[in-house]
Amino acid sequence: MQALGTLEDLPETYRKALTAQNLVPLWPSLRAVLPPGKPTLRTRPTCWEYKALRPLLLEAGELTPIEKAERRVLVLANPGHGLEKMQASACMYLGMQLLMPNEWAPSHKHTPNAVRMIVEGEGAYTTVDGEKCPMSRGDLILTPTGLWHEHGHDGNAPVVWLDVLDLPLVYYTETSYVTEGKAQAVTGTMNERAYAHGGVLPAPMFSRGSDRRYPMLRYPWVDARAALVAQAQAHPEAEAVQVAYVNPETGGDCQNILGFSALMLRPGESLRLPVRSPAMVFHLIEGGASVDIDGTTFSLAPADTCCAPGYTPVTLKNLSASEPSFIFIADETPLHRKLGVYEVRA
Ligand SMILES: [Fe+2]
Repeated sequence: MQALGTLEDLPETYRKALTAQNLVPLWPSLRAVLPPGKPTLRTRPTCWEYKALRPLLLEAGELTPIEKAERRVLVLANPGHGLEKMQASACMYLGMQLLMPNEWAPSHKHTPNAVRMIVEGEGAYTTVDGEKCPMSRGDLILTPTGLWHEHGHDGNAPVVWLDVLDLPLVYYTETSYVTEGKAQAVTGTMNERAYAHGGVLPAPMFSRGSDRRYPMLRYPWVDARAALVAQAQAHPEAEAVQVAYVNPETGGDCQNILGFSALMLRPGESLRLPVRSPAMVFHLIEGGASVDIDGTTFSLAPADTCCAPGYTPVTLKNLSASEPSFIFIADETPLHRKLGVYEVRA
């Protein structure tokens, strides 16, 4: 590939004249913004061990009252992007959030989409658009763009969850903002039970199904896990045992920008993932697994989280020869498909 001229090749008076008119020559930066064959990846393989971060999160509970935090979160930041950017990948934000008994994180709504993967504790709930969603380990709760949400806790031990947001992308597009609100009236609970049986949907004769854009807001782990175990039993030959979290009315992605799935590694299984354009996040729900990201290997214990850049080979391995392992996956696939940049390379 032809070497291009640099800034230093240009006379200083010319460079100053350009700057004075807010002009920039493209050719000195062309190879940086359009590198040959593969994008420049700032996202670095990074792992956040839950055992190591948990004491710091609990200490935040002592140092900062909820009224002074609104959302008490330690952000899992990728050093490849700079910690101050608070992003795990180009488009994903991850945070570990702590709610102590009797605390309340007030109602708000915002443009970025969020999901929560519950990590530990019982008795907390998120109210989304009037629907009270109980939070138990492994449950996935959606708070899509524009929906009111608040968190409460009637239990007696700390509750922690992993937040996954498309905040970096929404912030980048200069569309990120929040609206504060009053405590919501609860108008429903356990709505997801209406969608709990595969192949049948609510379909009263006088309506064409739910008019809600996000009909299912809580995906109980007990159901996702049962679906994975059933799939493993029904298809022992399957290359991978995986379920996607979808909108049950459309079968499409459950949110617009990020995609979510759960994967079961059978005892002793090693799974080489296709090399694809989206960055990925892996959070271990149950068992023990290693994640090899192009030669960088992380060992995940339950509640550990790691991320991998796109365009990179990833191999997952169950570290147990007798028990399955279960991994929650978040990635940027819906966004890449919508933008037309989605790629599978091998
Ligand atoms: Fe929020």
